[in-house]
Amino acid sequence: MAPSAVETITVPVVNPTKRTHFGAYKELAPTQFDPEAEAGKKGFKGAKYANYLPTWNPEQKYPALQPFEHYEHGKDADTTFPNLLPKDFAKVTHLTPSIGTEVSGIQLSSLSNAGKDELARFVAERKVVAFRGQDFADLPIEKALEFGGYFGRHHIHPTSGLPEGFPEVHLVHRGAGDRSAEEFFASRTSSVAWHSDVSYEQQPPGTTFLYILDKPETGGDTLFVDAVEAYNRLSPLFQERLHGLKATHSGIEQVNAAAARGSIKRRDPVVNEHPLVRTHPATGEKALYINPQFTRDIVGLKKEESDALLKFLYDHLAYGADFQARVKWEEGTVVVWDNRVTQHSALVDWKSGQRRHLARITPQAERPFETPFESK
Ligand code: SIN
Repeated sequence: MAPSAVETITVPVVNPTKRTHFGAYKELAPTQFDPEAEAGKKGFKGAKYANYLPTWNPEQKYPALQPFEHYEHGKDADTTFPNLLPKDFAKVTHLTPSIGTEVSGIQLSSLSNAGKDELARFVAERKVVAFRGQDFADLPIEKALEFGGYFGRHHIHPTSGLPEGFPEVHLVHRGAGDRSAEEFFASRTSSVAWHSDVSYEQQPPGTTFLYILDKPETGGDTLFVDAVEAYNRLSPLFQERLHGLKATHSGIEQVNAAAARGSIKRRDPVVNEHPLVRTHPATGEKALYINPQFTRDIVGLKKEESDALLKFLYDHLAYGADFQARVKWEEGTVVVWDNRVTQHSALVDWKSGQRRHLARITPQAERPFETPFESK
């Protein structure tokens, strides 16, 4: 698999004396740490959130993930959302009829557990919600993790950069002065790379949080597609045919791509089979669950059959501008989406050399399951 344009691709700086990726950063206190200066890229502003700059420690190894029982808090929610969206404070604007909402006037970090239950449910219904004016990035990282941990077991990414001491935070970072996008576009026409995060895990993520730390002047938006509406747009005959099918999802290529650029592997990669149509445990909605980054083939089909069917489904999701939403980042934005019923892609369209820096908290959810086809 070709490396995606949206992975944390800042190549770890190798300390030539210690021959590690990590040592060069380690001695400096986080506030003094400026990898752009370290790498000789003078004349750029340092990161606003230096405590969130990416590190890669080759010594950091984790055993295979074990199954765990996920509790879906969205099932407990009051679906009028009185704790999440109090009428006197919350301003709620839907971006499109099926997917995407913007909310301002409330602070996620102050939610009670009842509010968090409603958050899980509201996000499952709206698929992606951008919360403006949040204090999330300014919280101590452990507090942000404590909040995210309510929604499921934290996922630790096998390869991505992470803030030192917080392996549960996945970082998306293009440093100031980084011109690697220009190289990418020398051989590719588009940076769009639809995916559902780490879908290769046996229990992939559900309610997921991404918050902005540094943003380019303009651009670097994130696109989302509603995989429930994508399923609903198919004919009943076709939907019925998809039920019962499983697809393989592989993490091998991501680990290999990291190795090819001299980066690290924290855990051995896995391959898992998931139903092509999965059911959301709180809403009962059915969604297409395949994506071009991690899905490899459909179990039991011949290669040409599997390739053709997957291509049709990927095209269907990618062309579905009438069931997609585009989220524009603003300072203080936390975007929450449900990885079970959406796919997303960053857009690498900003002026080359500007910093784009985000942190993701990725709680794992249940093992994907499907419920029988129902004709409507
Ligand atoms: C992600 O794929 O989780 C990050 C998306 C983005 O960088 O906008």
